[in-house]
Amino acid sequence: MRETFGYQTVTQQERKKRISHVFATIASRYDLMNDLMSFGIHRLWKRNLVKKLSAPENAIIVDLAGGTGDVGAKIYQAKGTPVIIVDASKQMIQAGKDKLDLPLDWLVATGEDMPFADNSIDVITLSFGLRNMTDLDVVLKEINRCLKPGGQFLCLEFSTPNFWLKPFYDFYSWAIIPRLGAFVAREPAAYQYLIESIRKFPNQRELCHQFSKAGFKNVEFDNYSFGICALHQGQKSEVNHP
Ligand SMILES: C[S@@+](CC[C@H](N)C(=O)[O-])C[C@H]1O[C@@H](n2cnc3c(N)ncnc32)[C@H](O)[C@@H]1O
Repeated sequence: MRETFGYQTVTQQERKKRISHVFATIASRYDLMNDLMSFGIHRLWKRNLVKKLSAPENAIIVDLAGGTGDVGAKIYQAKGTPVIIVDASKQMIQAGKDKLDLPLDWLVATGEDMPFADNSIDVITLSFGLRNMTDLDVVLKEINRCLKPGGQFLCLEFSTPNFWLKPFYDFYSWAIIPRLGAFVAREPAAYQYLIESIRKFPNQRELCHQFSKAGFKNVEFDNYSFGICALHQGQKSEVNHP
């Protein structure tokens, strides 16, 4: 089966291998690059995600594609609830463990096949990870499977900005970000992939449709920074359909 890696068409296996290589190579500079590329605004987007999170007491919360634990830490600091961070990259997880001294659980696993029982998780968050997953439909169904009935799914991802912003956004993306990636992370190709993958990703309304197709209800989204980023959310049905 053929997949896209940015603008290139590669096999599914090759795509997984390349994405894994991208995060293995940038892990130690990932947080710094996020701050530089977004002028620190990613922190506000993530804080908004945490504000929208509604978890019962003693909730089981999973931050999928949690990387270096940025969102997991913010959830813990705001809600006092321990978070399970799931990520496919050992290197990203190690960078998170080295940085954070919080009661977080770390698990190397993929979003396509999570080691959780059906109906066992209260909330799943996913920030800037869905775009990297190989099969969107499989991952969304897997998230739905793991959530308890009524459970909440919150997904932060780059999206399609307002048309008037596009010329500036395109200039910044193509001219500045790969140079920053070369200078700071010494991995321009990784940041070239990042820009291309954003453009290949479904827009706000298309993603809502994918959520509904995977079985989520009450699907909605909020645009941040004029649509550069969007927070989508959905809820698992209370009734468990076989
Ligand atoms: C852009 S980083 C986001 C990290 C973190 N959520 C944040 O917002 O700072 C994307 C993360 O997705 C992880 N990832 C990529 N493919 C994955 C998959 N199939 N399953 C789980 N994690 C995956 C990568 O290892 C990486 O840590």
